[in-house]
Amino acid sequence: MAQDSRQTVEIHPSRIKQRMPPCALVIFGGAGDLSHRKLLPALYNLSIDNELPEHVAVVGFSMEDLNDDSYRQFARSGIEQFSRRPLDESQWSRFAPLLHFVRGDFTDASTYNALRTRLAEIDQQAGTHENRVFYFAIPPSFIDTCSNGLKASGMIQPADVERAPFTRVVVEKPIGSDLASAREINARLARYFDESQIFRIDHYLGKETVENLLVLRFANSVFEPLWSSHFVDHVQITVAEQEGVGTRAAYYDHAGALRDMVQSHLLQVLCMIAMEAPRTTAADAVRDSKLDVLRSLKPLEGDEIGRFVVRGQYAEGVVAGEKVNAYRSEEHVAPDSTIETFVALRCFVENWRWAGVPFYLRTGKRMPKRASEIAIYFKSVPRILYNNPPRPPLEPNVLVLRIQPDEGLALNIISKLPGAEVRLAPVKVDFHYTTASPEAYETLLRDVILGDQTLFMRRDTIEAAWQFVQNILDAWAEAPSEPPLYPAGSWGPIESALMIAADGRAWRNP
Ligand code: BG6
Repeated sequence: MAQDSRQTVEIHPSRIKQRMPPCALVIFGGAGDLSHRKLLPALYNLSIDNELPEHVAVVGFSMEDLNDDSYRQFARSGIEQFSRRPLDESQWSRFAPLLHFVRGDFTDASTYNALRTRLAEIDQQAGTHENRVFYFAIPPSFIDTCSNGLKASGMIQPADVERAPFTRVVVEKPIGSDLASAREINARLARYFDESQIFRIDHYLGKETVENLLVLRFANSVFEPLWSSHFVDHVQITVAEQEGVGTRAAYYDHAGALRDMVQSHLLQVLCMIAMEAPRTTAADAVRDSKLDVLRSLKPLEGDEIGRFVVRGQYAEGVVAGEKVNAYRSEEHVAPDSTIETFVALRCFVENWRWAGVPFYLRTGKRMPKRASEIAIYFKSVPRILYNNPPRPPLEPNVLVLRIQPDEGLALNIISKLPGAEVRLAPVKVDFHYTTASPEAYETLLRDVILGDQTLFMRRDTIEAAWQFVQNILDAWAEAPSEPPLYPAGSWGPIESALMIAADGRAWRNP
């Protein structure tokens, strides 16, 4: 099944470009990996789609020895390698002049004055009207220094003055490594910026299919009446990666899967599935509803953590036909590391809608395939008629919402096999989104420029997510243990299957 283009309804106004205010986007760490792989290719694709403002400049800001020309070369190579659309010379010649570079040391006050002077020139040439987006593609330890430099050089405009140029700041994860450090980062940011100026990124929220969860739920009448403990038996959320830790071990070997994935992406997806209908589609209404979910999560306490949270670490194995190393043999990983590369857990959203419905969350590196999906298991039909004993119970209906890579949804239903005899079999109604989705960073960068905070993490939301995870971190710190190993290329340690089996259920492997 595919999308019916005749039925396309424009939810977002189509003339986005005309609504986009002029602005200069300054990327701190502009010559780093994130810029190369994600930000610059995303901006290039926005330019192709006419979703950048008429008057815009992109300024890379970092200590590398680059100038405008060499920065454009840097961007070009990022686009050639990582853009979802291949580099097209005519598109490139439209995009390249938007790029500039300012060299500077973040710890040196004079750097910020040089940046301010250059931005004033750019305002003149490009008509960017002193509107600024400062994108912090830098380690969290630099947030204070950079914010302070901006403040001292007068580059942060107040948020509450009407018609004044705007200042926005974009902050990447990790926002903290626990509740206390997240609070501290948020408090530091609040010293310089108003909450309405802060855009905290969780790139999962920029994924088309994650955003679409709300449309699916609240623009259709067939799902919502079933969306509660009356009809749902349980929910599984899986984010599986084939990749190992790659080049990010310096960060990951202190973070692990619980901090890296569960605290952020998985809990955000859980919010989209479990939240109540927001009052409106306004940013704060949506974020209020999500916050309610996080605040309704039943804290895991005492021995529940041992029983309902499973860790794992990949040992050597075979992924996609290739032999791969154990986590402990990866570059920059401690040879005796006890960091988890896999987590599975069971939690409950304790509110009127979801009371008693378990949510099983699972994420890991070096799984058999890359797949992120949500599976809603509906309750079984009564054991009468087609489901009567001694027949084995019919399989329940399962709605699978695929986030990536094959975006779409599928519903498993029971059907009759053709023929005189009544023989039943499960069949799958499968829907694939056929249009090419933009990358998450395209959506998020566009929304920052538009000033729409819906898909960004509010301070209270991020702290509520840490609050839930903190009990688990504390329990692990109090009783350190080796995570069970799982062979790379498997669905995690046996303990994960046993945890869900103890409830009489099984993981659905994508
Ligand atoms: C990042 C994590 O936030 O998300 C990485 O830090 C992870 O460890 C990545 O690999 C997964 O993102 P995606 O978009 O590839 O599913």
